[in-house]
Amino acid sequence: MKIYKTKDYKEMSRKAANILSAQVILKPDCVLGLATGSTPIGTYDQLVEWYKKGDVDFSEVRTVNLDEYRGLTRDNDQSYYYFMHEHLFDRVNIKQENTNVPDGTESDADKECERYEKLIGSMGGVDIQLLGLGHNGHIGFNEPDSIFAKATHCVNLTESTIEANKRFFASADDVPRQAYTMGIGTIMKAKKILLIVNGEAKADIVSKAFFGPVTPEVPASILQLHSDVVIVADEAALSKIPE
Ligand code: GLP
Repeated sequence: MKIYKTKDYKEMSRKAANILSAQVILKPDCVLGLATGSTPIGTYDQLVEWYKKGDVDFSEVRTVNLDEYRGLTRDNDQSYYYFMHEHLFDRVNIKQENTNVPDGTESDADKECERYEKLIGSMGGVDIQLLGLGHNGHIGFNEPDSIFAKATHCVNLTESTIEANKRFFASADDVPRQAYTMGIGTIMKAKKILLIVNGEAKADIVSKAFFGPVTPEVPASILQLHSDVVIVADEAALSKIPE
């Protein structure tokens, strides 16, 4: 596990965008695993800036997103489909047919999760998976649990996640209670993992997840067992790690 410490959010975003663009340059038709949440917005902005300068080309890139709220339509501005189009897909030369987000409108959860898992396999797996980190240690929407969920599945969101994400909705009641997410097994199959995290509010969970025991109660802790993980974190997020 390699940890890059940056002075702030801007530098974290630039470093993460550097790593992702290096992947795209090395393998133009790579599969990028993408994430949502507030953390990656700066990374996407930086990629768009470099695309506009002609430094990075998305024409052959394929993408798979980690997760999607169950029940939200694509035109709902809180859906992760909408988020990805707003922050990245509509701003670069990626082919829309090469982008994939779980379909939150498919009510048959088993069917959609199976389709998504197979799709990732048929693309040859994920070359680099970008991850944020939930306050409770979740990655994608893999919430603390007594076991590590393997494949793409439907989850019940915890109260803490609903609470954390309600800032994007009119009220907590509007936050969907379920989501489709890649499983821990799906994420662990990615060839490389890039986790980004910033801010003092995440310092405790960073310390627990990457310096504590590996446990499904802290889903991100499993990343300690992946052979190629890069964490890009700002000073504040790393302020509580052991010496
Ligand atoms: C969300 C997403 C995660 C994200 C996390 C942290 O619920 N499902 O993929 O990493 O919460 O979000 P933020 O970056 O806004 O703190």
